[in-house]
Amino acid sequence: MPSDVPTLKLPSGETVPRLGLGTWRMGESRRARAQEIAAIELGIDLGMTLIDTAELYANGGAEEAVGEAIAGRRDQVFIVSKVKPENSSRAGTVAACKRSLKHLGIDQIDLYLLHWRGPHPLKETLAGFETLHGDGLIKAWGVSNFDVGDMEELFALPGGVAVATNQVLYNLATRGIEADLLPWSRAHGIPIMAYTPIDRGRILRNRALAAVAARHDATPAQIALGWVLRHKDMMVIPKASNEAHVRENRAALDVALTADDLAELNEAFPPPVGATSLEML
Ligand SMILES: NC(=O)c1ccc[n+]([C@@H]2O[C@H](COP(=O)([O-])OP(=O)(O)OC[C@H]3O[C@@H](n4cnc5c(N)ncnc54)[C@H](OP(=O)(O)O)[C@@H]3O)[C@@H](O)[C@H]2O)c1
Repeated sequence: MPSDVPTLKLPSGETVPRLGLGTWRMGESRRARAQEIAAIELGIDLGMTLIDTAELYANGGAEEAVGEAIAGRRDQVFIVSKVKPENSSRAGTVAACKRSLKHLGIDQIDLYLLHWRGPHPLKETLAGFETLHGDGLIKAWGVSNFDVGDMEELFALPGGVAVATNQVLYNLATRGIEADLLPWSRAHGIPIMAYTPIDRGRILRNRALAAVAARHDATPAQIALGWVLRHKDMMVIPKASNEAHVRENRAALDVALTADDLAELNEAFPPPVGATSLEML
């Protein structure tokens, strides 16, 4: 039996596993559905019970796949979903959340995020989140793809400091947040949820990554994940619809990178030299 998945405590008080499951590109085809659901079920069995989804993904199809995978085991999982920016008016946020709850087949979302800044004033979205929280339809709320300026704007709003996380793009090849957003988030006690942690597979052929992986008897994906997981205040949500990938990703928790490994990875994937605008997918 592998050791437990390490956890962190959100500012809202919930304890969540630091390694979870992404679901972008799931729920898009009937043919892939059984395999996707089996992968999510396996991830839950292995303790990766933080599940990230969104109304955007396959137009609710990913939420439905998650709903099928968690049926009968709601109490074992921590569900994150997101409102699309165009729906994020006060009333639109409430309506979108109710649709997501239906897709997921549950009566409360654990953490509900604004997917990225959109056309509606932030205070409108916040009012929607507060209504949903007051009605018990969400446990906590947060944001995604917010840069430092967005976070400061949020913090200036009444109730804005209650934000539970900021979900942003972070992997070896995309390290911009290290210059500004990561230190800002640490100073304000807001944990980052890192998305696209293996760069959708694009970095896996890198020679330095392969060399470090060979030294650890690990795969490049495990090193890429271990590199993000070394930040003890981050959650990481790789997506895998292949069961072998799910097992491999779970075992990334056993990777302990040395100072030499980190130096070699810094050479191949240099850290930012100064503040850059936040990248997103
Ligand atoms: N908030 C946002 O704006 C935002 C944006 C992007 C993503 N996200 C969230 O973050 C999650 C993860 O990001 P992502 O899906 O973009 O990219 P990712 O997790 O970096 O990469 C997913 C890809 O890598 C493959 N893969 C997974 N494990 C692997 C392994 N051990 N070895 C080799 N390949 C492996 C997957 O293949 P298989 O599926 O075939 O296993 C899939 O093609 C998303 O699913 C979504 O939930 C949020």
